[in-house]
Amino acid sequence: MTDIHAVAVLGGGLMGSGIAHVCAAAGFDTVVREVTGAMCQRAQHSVERSLARAVERGKLAPDARDAALARLRYTTELEALAGADLVIEAVVEDLEAKNRAWRELDAACKPETMFASNTSSLTIAAMAAATARADRVVGLHFFNPVPVMRLVEVVRTVTTSDATVARAFAFARALGKEPIAAKDVSGFVVNLLLVPYLFDAITQLERGVATVQDLDAGMKLGAGHPMGPLELCDFVGLDTLHRIGEIMFAEYRERRYAPPPLLRRMVLAGLHGRKSGRGFYDYAEDPPRPSNLGI
Ligand code: CAA
Ligand code: NAD
Repeated sequence: MTDIHAVAVLGGGLMGSGIAHVCAAAGFDTVVREVTGAMCQRAQHSVERSLARAVERGKLAPDARDAALARLRYTTELEALAGADLVIEAVVEDLEAKNRAWRELDAACKPETMFASNTSSLTIAAMAAATARADRVVGLHFFNPVPVMRLVEVVRTVTTSDATVARAFAFARALGKEPIAAKDVSGFVVNLLLVPYLFDAITQLERGVATVQDLDAGMKLGAGHPMGPLELCDFVGLDTLHRIGEIMFAEYRERRYAPPPLLRRMVLAGLHGRKSGRGFYDYAEDPPRPSNLGI
């Protein structure tokens, strides 16, 4: 059971649109805030496409999809989030961008509203410190694609209250997710293990150990992964993955968290993976073919 009824999602990109899908489908009134009208439309299109996919795959009944659509609103106005019981932030992986939004929301939202960040690697402590409600700030780290991946990491920082942690777990379960407890360390539980694996695959590609296709086929056919590591990098977003690596390396100063040079050059070249149409694969092709990266 949860005492949360109205949810606001800050950021309607790859993750925010998935979070909005699962919140609305689970019965929560959900408002999505994006920075421009065009981004609101893009977010709405992503959510509606994701809900349609759930119906196509028999995961959601058509009338439940229609009810979810009726619970969704999109806005550029931060004030429209003031009535939320919970704000889930999924804006770009940049602490200043997140904290600018948190400071504004802290003034606009009810005192009891809980703030949750979907950050992959930034510390919740820094976000809590940007507000006057540090005890009600927590991490709710969803996994991509949100409608499919059952895990949510509930990240407690040094100021998070027991009541907030309990509310976060209850909310995650109300979404039909399986929450685990994570400490406020960069990468929490899964990314601490997954990011070095993804960076290793990029490094092995740089070293010419195998081709893009064979590295991915190796882990799918040999280790039973649903996606190969380079396909997964494209899926997460190379810009986001690079930011995550920079943040984790700054925390641990361990080489395995440092973004490989090839990843940096691809991001500088605007190759951001699926979201930009090209990364390790070229998504203009069907099926997507490995990009010619000249290596
Ligand atoms: N809503 C509900 N269910 C959906 C759906 C949607 N929009 N889209 C797909 N599904 C379901 C399908 O019904 C299917 O379910 P069943 O197996 O029960 O039938 C399942 O998801 C697989 O879907 P598809 O068959 O369409 O697609 P696929 O088999 O190619 O799987 C995938 C796609 C789920 C993305 C799979 O490739 C996968 O799991 N990849 C790995 C994803 C991963 O590792 N994510 C974590 C990234 S790291 C992260 O997120 C953290 C971070 O901070 C970066
Ligand atoms: P994205 O680039 O797809 O989406 C970010 C969105 O935030 C954009 O649409 C942008 O317009 C919007 N935005 C930026 N500033 C905003 C503001 N002030 N108010 C409202 N919207 C704003 O990024 P993403 O992949 O969805 O990642 C978002 C967050 O989720 C990041 O913190 C990331 O680390 C985390 N995350 C990503 C993944 C993944 O696989 N991509 C998985 C788990 C967590």
